[in-house]
Amino acid sequence: MSKVTVVGAGNVGATVANVLAHKDIVKEIVLLDIRPEFAAGKALDSWQQAPIDYYSSTITGTGDYRKTKNSDIVVITAGIPRKPGMSRDDLISTNAGIVSSVTKSIMKHSKNPIIIVVSNPLDVMTFAAYKASGLKDSRVFGMAGILDTARYRAFLATELGVSPKDLQAVLMGGHGDTMVPLPRYTTVAGIPVTEMIEKDKLKAIVERTKKGGGELVKLMGTSAWYAPGAAAAQMCEAILKDENRIFPCCARLNGEYGLKDMFLGVPVKLGKNGIEQVLELKLNKSEMKLLHKSAQHVKDVMAVFNKMKIK
Ligand code: NAI
Ligand code: 2OP
Repeated sequence: MSKVTVVGAGNVGATVANVLAHKDIVKEIVLLDIRPEFAAGKALDSWQQAPIDYYSSTITGTGDYRKTKNSDIVVITAGIPRKPGMSRDDLISTNAGIVSSVTKSIMKHSKNPIIIVVSNPLDVMTFAAYKASGLKDSRVFGMAGILDTARYRAFLATELGVSPKDLQAVLMGGHGDTMVPLPRYTTVAGIPVTEMIEKDKLKAIVERTKKGGGELVKLMGTSAWYAPGAAAAQMCEAILKDENRIFPCCARLNGEYGLKDMFLGVPVKLGKNGIEQVLELKLNKSEMKLLHKSAQHVKDVMAVFNKMKIK
């Protein structure tokens, strides 16, 4: 008996709802958008797929927050995506207001939901939702690391000619070009990736991963949605099934890695209460340096957000 609301029925939001419905683990999915008819259309299309693909989760579209009442999880994808030439940070002036107001509207109708933020710039929008919600920090976090790690794993699978299923990896830091893929924590079916690939090829894949979002924006004129939608749905699944899965997520740091009062991508354990634990890896000096560089970049964008003085 659970209910998931997805705010923003665009490319990513509609995909989250559709992928989640296919998992058939939630009773009710509500898709909310400032374009109610568009949301209703996306929801109806997904619902009409149910007899073909065999799922029972209902999906309805709306512009009315009352329909989100008592949501267990809310995924926020509302806002604008980037166009070619834009960075994720360029979206802050529009998306900060949207994410804050959406969060407040959600909180009027659900007492203690778990909020997963997807809107960009991700690390700062997660902070915005945390502030606007008044929820515990274990209940507000962002999706980026699963997507970025998936890109890294997919590139490696292609290069090595192996199944992407066998690639395991950790990636940390902000959701931007300063993100930190960690080859030392990357394995192919348990074998350290460094034993399977030449150094320069691995380095090239790390660099491609860091710019993975931009690569897709260049190709499509807007940002990606299949992998991002699937990643957010996977986070919902871990929570709904209380799986205690380990994923890189954008979480509030309270001293871990020498960082605090900010949101950044780190490995966490995800279960029924949201973030059950932030894992602290024994990073070496150069990994820690890269993580702090990425954190500084997020702090710079946070300073822009703080100057906006959003109420
Ligand atoms: P989109 O433009 O396809 O969809 C956004 C939807 O938000 C639209 O349907 C729009 O009507 C709706 N919206 C705008 N203001 C709203 C409001 N106040 N209340 C309710 N709905 C509102 O964009 P797309 O591709 O779905 O991307 C959504 C966001 O997710 C963007 O900010 C994008 O940068 C971000 N993103 C983040 C990723 C991540 O890894 N964290 C990955 C992919 C996208
Ligand atoms: C992505 O990485 C734009 O954040 C979005 O695809």
